[in-house]
Amino acid sequence: MGRLQGKVAVITGAGRKKGLGEAIARRFAEEGATVVLTDIGAPSGPHLTADNIGTSAEMDEVAAGIRTATKAAVATMTCDVRSEDDVKRVVADTVKQFGALDIVVNNAGVGYIMKPLVDFTIEEWNLVLEVNLRGPFLFTKHAGAQMIKQNQAGRKGGRIINIASQAAKSPAPQLVAYTSSKHGLVGLTRVSAVELAPHGITVNAVCPNHVTTGLGAKQNAFRGKVIGAQSHEEIIAFRTAKIPLGRVGQAEDTANACVFLASDEAAYITGESMNVSGGEEMH
Ligand SMILES: NC(=O)c1ccc[n+]([C@@H]2O[C@H](COP(=O)([O-])OP(=O)(O)OC[C@H]3O[C@@H](n4cnc5c(N)ncnc54)[C@H](O)[C@@H]3O)[C@@H](O)[C@H]2O)c1
Repeated sequence: MGRLQGKVAVITGAGRKKGLGEAIARRFAEEGATVVLTDIGAPSGPHLTADNIGTSAEMDEVAAGIRTATKAAVATMTCDVRSEDDVKRVVADTVKQFGALDIVVNNAGVGYIMKPLVDFTIEEWNLVLEVNLRGPFLFTKHAGAQMIKQNQAGRKGGRIINIASQAAKSPAPQLVAYTSSKHGLVGLTRVSAVELAPHGITVNAVCPNHVTTGLGAKQNAFRGKVIGAQSHEEIIAFRTAKIPLGRVGQAEDTANACVFLASDEAAYITGESMNVSGGEEMH
């Protein structure tokens, strides 16, 4: 029996191949969960361009891959996490289709707008904060309300997991909005943990360091220029040199942490922000 057998999980920003969301969804499905992949689905504005997002077509491919590999029930729903209507719809449709909502992973994020803070525009700041912090707030609000109802009806053990970052603990230069949003996400995690604890719902954050996803590759390209790296291997070597365990993170490292936090084994853990960083980040 899988550790998440019978659980229903929604994962945001999970429509992109090689992303953390895909890896989390796959591990959840392997552990017996029903998973609902959500993503924005179509480009929106100057930054959420086709090369930065999970399109509906890509999300369908991600879902098909997980279905084939695990035989789990895998659904897809478009959801712009900035929209309260979208978030409410996903919570309602998940419950309608699968009978409950036990786990939410707030994974959608924008992390590739990199420039000096004095050049950051208010539009860029707003976009990053809206996706990385308002989105998790909206899901915590609406999924939290659903989990409270379920708890009263005898279905225990709601779980909310926020994918924060090493940038939630330490400053990442030229990522002022990202760093601020991820620090804010730790605050959201803590206050939600306190408020939802009486209902048996835990809320935790996971803080990975670099993983070469689509978003991670963009950060690599930028940092590579800053340090004068000539190749992908050079930037990875630069990152690896700072990591005690001697390698950069894989999406599965974060996914495994999420499985643990979503499982019954983590029932007494809430309000934590767990580093998944090979020892690079320790506080
Ligand atoms: N890759 C890393 O190095 C790293 C490290 C630490 C934390 N993270 C965090 O992990 C999470 C996943 O990122 P990833 O690295 O897998 O990159 P990714 O690009 O694969 O995933 C980000 C996803 O967010 C989605 N998204 C963006 N705006 C959205 C919106 N308005 N509504 C819904 N979805 C939206 C994108 O479509 C994309 O699928 C992010 O929160 C990121 O900040 C990543």
